[in-house]
Amino acid sequence: MDVEGYTSLKEGLFLYSLAGTLINSPVMVEIGSWKGRSTIWLASGLRDGTGSGRVVAVDHGVGDSDAGIQQTAEIFSANIKKSNVAEMITTIFKKSEEAISNWSDPVDMLFIDGAHDYENVKRDFAWEEFLKDGGWLVMHDVLNPAEGPARMFLERVIKTNGFKNFGTVDSILFAQKGEGLKRYDLRKTIIGILLRFCLILTKVNKKLPKNGLPKKIVRILMKDIVRGLITKVANFKLVGFDKIKTELTQ
Ligand SMILES: C[S@@+](CC[C@H](N)C(=O)[O-])C[C@H]1O[C@@H](n2cnc3c(N)ncnc32)[C@H](O)[C@@H]1O
Repeated sequence: MDVEGYTSLKEGLFLYSLAGTLINSPVMVEIGSWKGRSTIWLASGLRDGTGSGRVVAVDHGVGDSDAGIQQTAEIFSANIKKSNVAEMITTIFKKSEEAISNWSDPVDMLFIDGAHDYENVKRDFAWEEFLKDGGWLVMHDVLNPAEGPARMFLERVIKTNGFKNFGTVDSILFAQKGEGLKRYDLRKTIIGILLRFCLILTKVNKKLPKNGLPKKIVRILMKDIVRGLITKVANFKLVGFDKIKTELTQ
């Protein structure tokens, strides 16, 4: 089903594949659903995995300055209804910071893709408190020119010792909650340096004129060089993901 949205095919396949590995009626929380593209990938992964669990989609349904200001709630609901995974999706049409005040369940996977400014990502990151040990934190647009996701990942994931098993797919950077092994510390340090470079590129990008060559160069540095390097140093590869990607993108 083709739903308009912001996750690439590769990212969607990754969300699907990771969701498919979760067991014991997993709970996934998605912050920022837009018209449901990523929500449907996540729910399809659950369906084709153990067939149990739910995706809790949190979105205030009015968009934001990055995604575009638009009333999306009705479009989202219609898309979910048309999908064949509607029964696995619970929707909360609220601001992430309001929805969290009624939340208490442990979470197996948290996908953060709300507004991308630092203050909003910080608020969305509050959901991490509910992430189980061994649960997955997946953040979109970390490796894109957007300050909030990269800064939060740097401050709250890389600089702590609370996460391990780092991996990346397009603009997504993800990690598993839990104390990492010392032997991976150097890799984590290098990811941190590359994220700092991303933040510099983001600042430069903001000041550049639209559509010019310098902007193109920044994009190439971010997408081809930084993403490529992080993929090389990240220590986690999802088993079977390359096979699924090859089969479904042919
Ligand atoms: C980049 S879009 C999400 C894209 C989506 N994951 C996809 O695959 O297409 C960001 C979404 O975050 C939502 N959003 C922004 N700020 C929010 C907030 N404080 N609480 C809840 N949702 C928010 C917007 O309404 C928008 O739908």
